[in-house]
Amino acid sequence: MSLLSMFKGKGPSGFGYGSTAESVTEGLDLSGQTILLTGSNSGIGKETLRVLTKRGAHVIAAARTVEKAQAACDEVGGETTAVACELSDPASVQACAERVIALGRPLDAIICNAGIMALPTLNQKLGYELQFFTNHIGHFILVTSLLDTLAEKGRVVMVSSDAHNGAPKEGIQFDNLSGDGEYGAWANYGQSKLANLLFASHLAKRLEGTGKTANSLHPGVIHTNLARSMNPIARGALAIGGPLVLKSVGEGAATQVYLAVHPSVEGVAGKYFSDCNVGKSSSHGRDEQMAAKLWEVSEKIAAEVTA
Ligand SMILES: NC(=O)c1ccc[n+]([C@@H]2O[C@H](COP(=O)([O-])OP(=O)(O)OC[C@H]3O[C@@H](n4cnc5c(N)ncnc54)[C@H](OP(=O)(O)O)[C@@H]3O)[C@@H](O)[C@H]2O)c1
Repeated sequence: MSLLSMFKGKGPSGFGYGSTAESVTEGLDLSGQTILLTGSNSGIGKETLRVLTKRGAHVIAAARTVEKAQAACDEVGGETTAVACELSDPASVQACAERVIALGRPLDAIICNAGIMALPTLNQKLGYELQFFTNHIGHFILVTSLLDTLAEKGRVVMVSSDAHNGAPKEGIQFDNLSGDGEYGAWANYGQSKLANLLFASHLAKRLEGTGKTANSLHPGVIHTNLARSMNPIARGALAIGGPLVLKSVGEGAATQVYLAVHPSVEGVAGKYFSDCNVGKSSSHGRDEQMAAKLWEVSEKIAAEVTA
């Protein structure tokens, strides 16, 4: 438990900052459920894998390589299938989707958790800035390839971040998706997380009336491998001060687990959650036109990079 959780209360859901993936699933029997999870080998993804399997779910655990995914599965035990999904490689993402479809199990949830953060210099893949390409386009290809595999009340859970508030002032820079025009480690991370949020809100609209839902979330601030690209001084400060002021990994995994499986979220769609309650996104995060344009542009990019 983090120190801060002692001072923060619970919200209308009955859960809050100090809730953990274990506490939000207390008493739930998830046997029979199948959940696809990206980034299952590290940080809050690995904790999500541990708790979902502990509650009886079959987790299709994705990682950059099948070896990494299998190692995480072996560590947690339970019912799992390890799959490779390198999000910056469209062929790997497509192969992952095909493998999941071939398993023949309807997906009760897809948790898009994998991500990279604040790369100090501009990196690109197939002409696109790498954080946008990995965090958003990779997941866009994965989820849109699997929509028919979503169960009747299947849930798509996009792990965004309050860092979406730090996206460029115009929001998604549609004329600078390569990053060549301007690049900022945090601005571009923020843009990718804004894209995760807008993707969920627009997907929720497209799924209206189907029983399937999509939501996004901020997990909190947690000391994980995500900080690997930050400078050593900032990383050192996180390592020392983290346990006092940041969420624990269990607390960090709570909101995505809550959104994926908690009965009280059934039918809830298009919302941005924080601390297991509906939170407030930036004005860009509520911009339906930007969300619709992002969908259209992402479809074109997905078609181009998978051709
Ligand atoms: N930690 C925080 O404070 C915080 C705050 C807000 C939002 N988030 C979000 O929470 C999510 C999980 O982060 P975390 O803190 O648990 O970080 P983490 O420990 O670094 O885990 C990130 C996961 O994403 C995977 N990944 C990275 N690049 C990938 C790629 N190209 N293809 C496939 N998988 C890839 C990593 O795999 P490898 O281990 O192989 O690199 C790892 O499994 C991220 O989406 C992050 O943006 C975290």
